[in-house]
Amino acid sequence: MSRLAKRQKNIIGLSLGIAAGIGAAVTWRQRRRARLTSPLQSADGERVALITGASSGIGAAYARALARAGYVLILVARREARLQALAEELTQVYHVPVEVLVADLADPAGISNVEARIVQIGALAFLVNNAGFGVPGSFVQNEIASHEAMIRVYVNAAVRLTRAALPVMLAQRHGAIVNVASFVAFFPVTGSVTYSATKAYLRSFTEGLHQELDGTGVRVQALCPGFTRTEFQKTGKIDEQGIPNFLWMPAESVVAQSLRDLDNGRVISVPGLGYRLLALLAGLIPRDLLYSVGQWTRRYRATFASPSSARSS
Ligand SMILES: NC(=O)c1ccc[n+]([C@@H]2O[C@H](COP(=O)([O-])OP(=O)(O)OC[C@H]3O[C@@H](n4cnc5c(N)ncnc54)[C@H](OP(=O)(O)O)[C@@H]3O)[C@@H](O)[C@H]2O)c1
Repeated sequence: MSRLAKRQKNIIGLSLGIAAGIGAAVTWRQRRRARLTSPLQSADGERVALITGASSGIGAAYARALARAGYVLILVARREARLQALAEELTQVYHVPVEVLVADLADPAGISNVEARIVQIGALAFLVNNAGFGVPGSFVQNEIASHEAMIRVYVNAAVRLTRAALPVMLAQRHGAIVNVASFVAFFPVTGSVTYSATKAYLRSFTEGLHQELDGTGVRVQALCPGFTRTEFQKTGKIDEQGIPNFLWMPAESVVAQSLRDLDNGRVISVPGLGYRLLALLAGLIPRDLLYSVGQWTRRYRATFASPSSARSS
């Protein structure tokens, strides 16, 4: 190698090193500032958190974590008995007031009831748009009603509840909204076409809001978990055989990571190192390769799995 080429190589190496160093320092400073102004750290007055889909799984884990942090809770879902049992547990263990609000978010009237309750709350500090369900099968196998119900629960409800919550939070200059998306928000999934599309919507919606809310004191996050041990697969009759154990995370760990990321000002939260690497990869690999993997997976399922099986996360 000539002396000039060697020199050029050294300059490139040095420039990359300096750029990486500056990047790391800026990120460190941003995270430090984010922690100092975290909505989770504020202890001023009563703080109310409303969680949809709180009767089980990830929603119930948020309810426990936020009760532990001293939030007054409003728990939303359809199964009243489950919500009541959780409310009693949280009141007993954490001594916080807990309200139960029964609503079907696939029904516009149910969404309106929750919206109306949000507008009444003067101190809403935390909203978790988490309610959801999965449906196995290809797009055309499923009735249009099931696609529409999914869009209402994941998109309409999240948009309407966020729109209702923001004026209160902006007036307080304080608040947090978590939209529970999914790991599949990073790539379209065969057998869960509408599901992955709604999750991609939530991710994009949250990133757009994050930019609009800069400097307002209100923080947003799209939580993108992979396979999480909840009632999701059982309720949706989704085949979970063949998913290796190491891919599953407990709901409590998913929620703990979401809250840590919120503290650190991370807009996209992907719990689990392996999932974080895969999410990074999903943005880098060519789309045609991504489609080929999806098509191969669909053929594999059609050949080896039961006809109704599908996998969502
Ligand atoms: N588990 C996973 O592998 C996984 C992975 C990535 C993302 N997620 C997302 O995590 C969120 C929570 O799911 P989960 O895993 O915790 O499942 P889960 O245990 O089945 O909980 C789903 C919750 O949503 C509520 N819900 C469902 N349909 C509803 C409706 N029409 N109206 C109101 N509430 C409704 C359910 O309550 P009721 O039945 O009482 O109404 C329940 O509380 C979902 O958005 C899901 O897409 C899950």
